[in-house]
Amino acid sequence: MKIPYLNLKAITSRHLDELQQAVAEVVSSGWYLQGEAVQQFEQHYAEYIGTQHCIGVANGLDALTLTLRAYMEMGKISEGDEVLVPANTFIATVLAVSENKLTPVFVDVEADTLDIDIKALEQAITPKTKALMLVHLYGRCTYNERIEKICQKHNLLLIEDNAQAHGCRYQQHRTGSFGHAACHSFYPGKNLGALGDGGTVTTDDEKLANTIRTIANYGFAQKYVASHQGRNSRLDEMQAAALDVKLRYLDEDNNIRQSHARTYYNNIRNKAIRLPDMMDYGTNVYHIFPVFTPFRNQLQAHLQEKGIGTLVHYPIPPHKQACYSLYNHLQLPVTERLAEEELSIPLNQTMTEDEVQYIIEAINSFQKF
Ligand SMILES: Cc1ncc(COP(=O)(O)O)c(C=O)c1O
Repeated sequence: MKIPYLNLKAITSRHLDELQQAVAEVVSSGWYLQGEAVQQFEQHYAEYIGTQHCIGVANGLDALTLTLRAYMEMGKISEGDEVLVPANTFIATVLAVSENKLTPVFVDVEADTLDIDIKALEQAITPKTKALMLVHLYGRCTYNERIEKICQKHNLLLIEDNAQAHGCRYQQHRTGSFGHAACHSFYPGKNLGALGDGGTVTTDDEKLANTIRTIANYGFAQKYVASHQGRNSRLDEMQAAALDVKLRYLDEDNNIRQSHARTYYNNIRNKAIRLPDMMDYGTNVYHIFPVFTPFRNQLQAHLQEKGIGTLVHYPIPPHKQACYSLYNHLQLPVTERLAEEELSIPLNQTMTEDEVQYIIEAINSFQKF
């Protein structure tokens, strides 16, 4: 059997006719930016997430960068202020902070839950701390009441990075609706993936929404009248039309992911391999299914031999990247160990139960050497 880590063609094929029709309508409309398709998708996605506003932007990194930039323009954060970020994240979360000349403060995560370490988080707060980037990494909801209380106590802006957790729920509400703002990526491989790049910010804050919209459109609140030194970062009509189709299937797709994940949890039995703590139903949409082992490279080779594609998320944590040499000396042991031990096994809505079983057997037959 051959099981690629991700087969985007298979994912797109499930809705090919509807996607082709939606894109064809945009093509023949002659209107490609700032039109009805974007407006509709923004409205549908805001309703889905449960916020009053949704602003389409070019990608997830821009969603994060523009959110911080807008808070700076609104006078809520200033250059040099500190922003807390979980050390175990995709580099984009950190890039958004440094791009705005803000200082990222890396906080380690907990080994079992993979959530940001609450104790370390509180210890990292100083009078210069203005915001927390809360990343729902791997599709796991990391929001909870303790996080909310800390943000309230220290007057921190809570910004969710929901790039990997579209559709995830916590107590009846969706991630992306808990923070002052939330940033979403529609990179094609995401749970809700576009046919190219795309992103949004969701928020209940009208002023923030208008500021982001303005900055993302050259700084024009009115045509050709610039109130900010803006840039061009817009979701285009074709991506919005495709996303609107795929949004209708997101819950169904996430259910399949959750069902396969349960099968993994119930059947993966190998002393050399650790699974993250299992979460309550609905609080994880399994964008990535990570397993951890000190024998990661051997496990990857073993699965490769059996035709199973895997990926590592992520081999070098942001604070150890060459571009962040200022932070290379930091020691964040849990994150650093995860980077050495993490292996992502295939999990998506196009996989069959036979494929899931085949992967389980392959993992269970792995012997460290
Ligand atoms: C956690 C996280 N944040 C931000 C991003 C950036 O999104 P994009 O690739 O759309 O710029 C991604 C994904 O790529 C991500 O996984």
